[in-house]
Amino acid sequence: MESNNKTVVVTGASGLLGRAVLKRFEEAGWKATGLAFSRAHKHPNLVKLDITDQEAVKHFLVSTRPEVIVHCAAEKSPDVVEKQPEEARKLNADATRNLALCAVQVKAFFIYISTDSVFDGKNPPYAEDATTSPLNKYGHSKRDGEVSTINLNAGVVLRIPFLYGPVDELAESSVAILFGQVKAGKPVTISHYDYRRPAHVDDIAGVVLLLAEKKLASVQGEQIYGIYHWSGPDQMTKYEMALIMADLFKLPKDHIKADPNAPTSGAPRAVDPSLSCERLQKLGAPTPVDFRTGVVPVLQPFLNA
Ligand SMILES: NC(=O)c1ccc[n+]([C@@H]2O[C@H](COP(=O)([O-])OP(=O)(O)OC[C@H]3O[C@@H](n4cnc5c(N)ncnc54)[C@H](OP(=O)(O)O)[C@@H]3O)[C@@H](O)[C@H]2O)c1
Repeated sequence: MESNNKTVVVTGASGLLGRAVLKRFEEAGWKATGLAFSRAHKHPNLVKLDITDQEAVKHFLVSTRPEVIVHCAAEKSPDVVEKQPEEARKLNADATRNLALCAVQVKAFFIYISTDSVFDGKNPPYAEDATTSPLNKYGHSKRDGEVSTINLNAGVVLRIPFLYGPVDELAESSVAILFGQVKAGKPVTISHYDYRRPAHVDDIAGVVLLLAEKKLASVQGEQIYGIYHWSGPDQMTKYEMALIMADLFKLPKDHIKADPNAPTSGAPRAVDPSLSCERLQKLGAPTPVDFRTGVVPVLQPFLNA
């Protein structure tokens, strides 16, 4: 692909979403630089940078001066954040504030990836301007990142739901872990309590590119600012996802039992944090892929592994 001379830095480019975002920008001809940390050695194309090292981040961005920064890096597991709130706060909140400050300094457009976990799930669907009320420490830490992004006028917040997409190993995402349980055939009880709207990382990457291109094009009357929502089209519990996987790959499902109760350990979860996505629809975002179509190529490589 011929370069279009536009420049972007993607944090978390070794992660589930960041890999797709980096690829999407590269395919569109951008000069894209991806950052990683502990998995940098597995991705020679990425730059190793600990984003909690605020001086190193500032130095990197001042010398790179990208036009756009897409901030995907985070501790994404609510259970991990609940157990290690201080470390998670440094990464999810403090590093985000520093990146937003640097973005303002180098005049980069900052796209902060946030989550539907900023809502308590009691009054869905949530509009972009709905009042946030996180139930767990993860949601609080991500909301703090949103507040920095908006208050510093650094760029936009893109809230997304439960993700799925290509993985290197089944342990890498919740959807892939579920497939491992479906395939294993051993009795397993899966949550049938909270509802999710799984979104494919390639769709989200396309939306991130759309926001960046529209911002740089600065089409009159189409300002890119504030908070945006993206969601997959289908609502389901993890138990229902597991049954769909079994059907798609013609696997037995008698071993899968539903657990309708709220989890008794780990971080509290919102029952239904569905997002309404009107602002992105008005911008012309394409229709998201349905779960049954999107998940097959993701899981196929692991069917006989
Ligand atoms: N996964 C979901 O279902 C979900 C749902 C809603 C919102 N989100 C949000 O979407 C974004 C992407 O999530 P994901 O699932 O792609 O996460 P992921 O696969 O766990 O990737 C996390 C990324 O953060 C990087 N990272 C961690 N600590 C770092 C540090 N100190 N310095 C630099 N980079 C660091 C990791 O790099 P290394 O691995 O190289 O250390 C990795 O690239 C996050 O902001 C998350 O909050 C995710």
